[in-house]
Amino acid sequence: MTADAIPLAITRTCPFAPPAQHQQLRKEAPIAKVKLPSGATAWAVTRHEDIRTILSDPRFSASRRNPGFPHLTEKTPPPLTAKPFLIEMDGQEHSAARRAVVGEFSVKRMAALAPRIQQIVDQSIDAMLAGPRPVDLVQALSLPVPSLVICELLGVPYADHEFFQARSAKLVGRTPTIEEKAGAFFELVGYLNKLVTDKEENPTDDLLGRQIVKLREEGAYDHETMLNLAFILLIAGHETTANMISLSTLMLLKHPEKLAVLRQDPEKTLAAVEELLRYFTIAEAGIGRVATEDVELGGVLIRAGEGVVVLANVGNRDPEVFENGDELEVERGARNHIAFGFGPHQCLGQNLARLELQIVLDTLFRRIPELRPAVREEELSFKDDATVYGMYEFPVTW
Ligand code: HEM
Repeated sequence: MTADAIPLAITRTCPFAPPAQHQQLRKEAPIAKVKLPSGATAWAVTRHEDIRTILSDPRFSASRRNPGFPHLTEKTPPPLTAKPFLIEMDGQEHSAARRAVVGEFSVKRMAALAPRIQQIVDQSIDAMLAGPRPVDLVQALSLPVPSLVICELLGVPYADHEFFQARSAKLVGRTPTIEEKAGAFFELVGYLNKLVTDKEENPTDDLLGRQIVKLREEGAYDHETMLNLAFILLIAGHETTANMISLSTLMLLKHPEKLAVLRQDPEKTLAAVEELLRYFTIAEAGIGRVATEDVELGGVLIRAGEGVVVLANVGNRDPEVFENGDELEVERGARNHIAFGFGPHQCLGQNLARLELQIVLDTLFRRIPELRPAVREEELSFKDDATVYGMYEFPVTW
């Protein structure tokens, strides 16, 4: 790639819209050469169709260890583990690893979890109602619900949540230095290493325990791979959904006429959840891939070894696919959005995330009908500096 790449904007100026530059790229240069904050050059891809093509084409690798991978802040950070995480595996290795665990996230399994999620949501709201106002929704509801759920699913003690929440926030933040990130990473790995070792000695009836037993029976068990799985599920399992809970609540409070649609007919919440996922597309900093062969796409030659950053945030507002894509239309039913990615790496926890969001939104507005923000919108703090968009705090009252 030549040197005329434009610096890629990664900070929102409006809390409810992707960086304006990303929108502009989609209109004017849908596959454009950009310079990342790390100094590396990559192709930014912004159209819905091109994004789906790339994410499902095996000639694009998800390996973070490939020197051409478009790391956002550091050119090629040293790999933190000897074995790859699920999210960075390719081909057969990826499909085998994913097959081993995908059953744990089936729609059926998730439906069986629904009563327990409802209980967790109700208990969090009970605590909110019993305490003083205003309440920070992030700490009272958005974080504890997905965090408790993923802890129970994995068999991680929730009592340790302050420890791992603080470290995962560092990992997905853009401000911590690479040393701080590595420190947070190794502390988390140390914690999970002990947990996985305990489960190897006494397998428990939870996702990790069941995986250990099953893989051992198949002769395919490996300690470090299990550690990596525990790590990625623990982090991905609470940080992302927590951000969506806060943002969705804010958006619905800001637009009472949209909230009224759900209040009148809770059956519509699921469609609204899809639309909120599309509208916010919180994997804000893009999904990375690297070409392993020369690929021609939309008249552009992406050479082997070059990085690609997929900007699903604007792909999800592509007028070719979503009419009035800049508007939240709660009854749209945006089934073909790419907020969970696309292709083989499409989010493993999407059924869980949908269910959590649906239960939280239904229950919160039903149980606290007078809910409202306790501060003006300008005073809210958004995660403009994080890989995953969201809210740091959301003071609410009723
Ligand atoms: C609203 C919430 C969520 C959003 C927006 C989200 C988004 C995403 C996206 C965009 C990807 C694709 C990354 C890529 O292609 O490189 C992904 C993958 C993944 N997500 Fe999620 N996620 C959410 C919730 C969850 C939850 C609750 C879990 C776990 C319980 C989870 C676990 C994973 C895993 C393990 C992968 C990697 C899958 C693979 O590589 O095969 N996610 N997620």
